Amino acid sequence: MSLLELDGVKVHFPIKKGLLFDRTVGHVYAVDGVSLKVEAGETYGLVGESGCGKTTLGRSVLRLVDITEGSVVLDGTDLAKLPGEEMRRFRRRLQMVFQDPLGSLNPRQNIESILSEGMIAHGIGKDQEERREKIKAILDKVGLPSNALARYPHEFSGGQRQRIGIARALVLEPDVIICDEPVSALDVSVQAQVINLLEELQEELGLTYVVIAHDLAVVRHISDTIGVMYLGSLVEEAPSDALYAEPKHPYTKALMSAVPVPDPEVEDKRERILLTGDLPSPANPPSGCRFHTRCPWAQAERCATERPELRDIGGGHRVACHYAEDIASGKLRLTKGEVVSATREGVEDNPTEDTPEAEAPEADASAAETPAKIPAQAEKPAEKAVVAEKAVEAEDKAATAEEPAKAEGKAEKAAEAKASPKPEAADEADEADEAVASDEAKASEEPEKAV
Ligand SMILES: Nc1ncnc2c1ncn2[C@@H]1O[C@H](COP(=O)(O)OP(=O)(O)O)[C@@H](O)[C@H]1O
Ligand code: SF4
Ligand SMILES: [Mg+2]
Repeated sequence: MSLLELDGVKVHFPIKKGLLFDRTVGHVYAVDGVSLKVEAGETYGLVGESGCGKTTLGRSVLRLVDITEGSVVLDGTDLAKLPGEEMRRFRRRLQMVFQDPLGSLNPRQNIESILSEGMIAHGIGKDQEERREKIKAILDKVGLPSNALARYPHEFSGGQRQRIGIARALVLEPDVIICDEPVSALDVSVQAQVINLLEELQEELGLTYVVIAHDLAVVRHISDTIGVMYLGSLVEEAPSDALYAEPKHPYTKALMSAVPVPDPEVEDKRERILLTGDLPSPANPPSGCRFHTRCPWAQAERCATERPELRDIGGGHRVACHYAEDIASGKLRLTKGEVVSATREGVEDNPTEDTPEAEAPEADASAAETPAKIPAQAEKPAEKAVVAEKAVEAEDKAATAEEPAKAEGKAEKAAEAKASPKPEAADEADEADEAVASDEAKASEEPEKAV
């Protein structure tokens, strides 16, 4: 049995309307039937566009949101059915590291107080002296000086604050840590350090992680298994290497095709799949295959009516697509969208240079400790540069073209390219996370609920 098993987990938020009496007029199908297993000592990476339900799924594991249907089994115990008091005790074993380190740390508490809070709630340490010693040891492990104890969150850099968030989880000796976008709010240079720290801690302490990210590059090197989410469901799951070597689901293919490859020879041959259409609303998901409105291989009738199961297609892949084998073999042709050559035009050989992120690396306590172990991370700004450049180029062409209609189409497509696979849809992520951050701030004020 795996350490953590989710089976058919659904979280549907009611949409209420009415002044006097709340009427439920619909539901947001934020998580709509997710089954996955996380093995002890391993990392499960969960990726997908902003709004696809990653945070809600993470929060459902800790029962910070009500589970509409399904089970969450930790070490043989179904958390979905646990009474409140027992669930509170189980929360020690499941900890969360949040995206916004500042928002999740109470500004009025010093670090000792923040880190002691959960320990007190769970009866860890016989007195404050003992707790302080343990906190000092953990601060050392996460690369912070012990004089951090008396300081306040605003006195630290973003990367350091995330180290405090990780320390807060570690002092409770959890079985599983759910890291929700742990580096999205950090500078690129600091992102690699925090990811490397998580890896080192895992090796040393045998931790089990679920790492949530909208950026494929973030989860690539840290994950043993990766699950790709689209509109509340998993569309593909595979060992990390297999997924990156050969993605099988059309959505994963499109996401991957947007990530530049460091090898120039491979990069020159890279083809980019451009999706059509916007991400549908989770309050009104498409019938049949949820991806059929944007899928370049969608087949009439079946894809629009029959929802594909996540099925094993060999090579370690589980894929929710009726036609995964035919797409892989090339038997099925594109029905919409476009595959274009993603040349290195406009990409600097060293893409981290000349980027604002690289120019202003954050002053982190351990800034010099490790070089970036996640090379793909460095390509992120370059990717944006290519996309932006293509958009401008297409817009220019649209302005001067002999066939305005055709050129307009190109501009639209380029704009889509900018918006479509959007693993870097930061604005939306910010919006979605504002609500979460305020919950977290609340949570840190209410320790008995938060821990
Ligand atoms: N408490 C809530 N009430 C209603 N809708 C919510 C709530 N929390 C999240 N949602 C909605 O559920 C969907 C999934 O959100 P979220 O889990 O935050 O996605 P992600 O983390 O992948 O960006 C979004 O459409 C979001 O607006
Ligand atoms: S089932 Fe159809 S619409 Fe869905 S991913 Fe496969 S080909 Fe595309
Ligand atoms: Mg989120």
